[in-house]
Amino acid sequence: MSGKPRDAAKPAANAAWGGRFAGGPAEIMQRINVSIDFDKRLFAQDIAGSLAHCAMLVRQNILSAEDGDAIARGLAQIRAEIEAGRFPFRAEHEDIHLNIEARLAELIGPAAGRLHTARSRNDQVATDFRLWVRDALDRLERQMQGLQAALIAKAERHADTIMPGFTHLQVAQPVTFGHHLLAYVEMLGRDRSRFGDCRRRLNECPLGAAALAGTSFPIDRHATAAALGFDRPAANSLDAVSDRDFALEFLAAAAICGTHLSRFAEEVVIWTSEPYRFIRLSDAFTTGSSIMPQKRNPDAAELVRAKPGRLLGALTQLLTVMKGLPLAYSKDMQEDKLPVFDAADTLELALAATAGMVGDLEPDAAAMRRVAASGFSTATDLADWLVRVLGLPFREAHRLTGALVKRAETLGLALADLPLAEMQKLEPRMTDAVFAVLTVEKSVASRSSFGGTAPANVAAAAAEAKRRFLREA
Ligand code: ARG
Repeated sequence: MSGKPRDAAKPAANAAWGGRFAGGPAEIMQRINVSIDFDKRLFAQDIAGSLAHCAMLVRQNILSAEDGDAIARGLAQIRAEIEAGRFPFRAEHEDIHLNIEARLAELIGPAAGRLHTARSRNDQVATDFRLWVRDALDRLERQMQGLQAALIAKAERHADTIMPGFTHLQVAQPVTFGHHLLAYVEMLGRDRSRFGDCRRRLNECPLGAAALAGTSFPIDRHATAAALGFDRPAANSLDAVSDRDFALEFLAAAAICGTHLSRFAEEVVIWTSEPYRFIRLSDAFTTGSSIMPQKRNPDAAELVRAKPGRLLGALTQLLTVMKGLPLAYSKDMQEDKLPVFDAADTLELALAATAGMVGDLEPDAAAMRRVAASGFSTATDLADWLVRVLGLPFREAHRLTGALVKRAETLGLALADLPLAEMQKLEPRMTDAVFAVLTVEKSVASRSSFGGTAPANVAAAAAEAKRRFLREA
């Protein structure tokens, strides 16, 4: 190999490290190495990081004010070019960092080469990526809050709309639709708190860790950290360039949030189906069938239901990349971005679609009430009555209620329609008063324990949720 003459058509050595390279990379080397197609999404963060670094270098007298100004002006122009879609991204410059540096050299000449003093792409990319994830977290935070607001608004309107509550997807006890929706508000509250934890731990600045060991230049890492809105510089330079916990935490939180959205989506799929007809979605959130003219399909809900596959895939992907990586930076870590970008896009879309469906859906109160009253759903209310009024032990009340349900079933009647005489055959002390607890309205109204489904509770819980999650009075 060493004796082989070099191909004349071979590309020139890379300007960023070409000193000890006689030639350029093989075409396949470039293809596996290049990341500009996806890491161009870091451009705004990369420029912000460079501006903070440059200003600090000037303040520390590592860079002249004149060069600092030229660099800052050049970077501002580059940002404008990228935003306007006029920036010449080039694969031979590998990634966003080198593309920007190469363009800076075209724009301002050799002073561009001074920007990389006391910095490496290792701390640069770690900083950019943290900033990007932080921005994504802030966008998602607003979206999750928006979805909570949509759910709370609908819950308020349906604080006393009765629906069947399910366990095992079998009719269990009547609940209110508002109560059901507020359950998702709680899930999203925990999601927001998880993303908030991620943001707090993320907010340390790797910049100035340089390649892995720090730098001999008298830099001020506290200043760059503060300028970029970080709480503090990362304490250990090796950890700073090799840590991707923030990305893993982001993906884990995204997967959990996506899982919540998929549970809601599954309910929408069930509720819109013909045998249920609990809710109706408008044309805005359904599609038709190309062969069956009558169809109205809840495609958005089905896709939200499916998205956790991608989110969990992204988490698995990055965990697998990171496991077993020795300190400090390894190029493996370039593979961190695609799953995170995809997960952020996926979750943003899923949240937006879910918020859209929540606003769009209209419950069919009559259909929900009919099912809520079926399946002997007030049997627990009957058992509770036997305990409260006749003083039976709960286990005995449970057994007796079971026998009454069986009798009603045999006669093809609902519990509320079972004649008193039939009830008295099994328990002579029963009175007419029992019928007061057997309707679904009475049932939900009685469930007024803290966190329970009673309409009065739901109205109060919605107001409380606004205070807790929307910072409204
Ligand atoms: N594109 C690289 C990445 O995303 C930037 C860091 C490259 N560092 C290096 N030592 N080659 O990880």
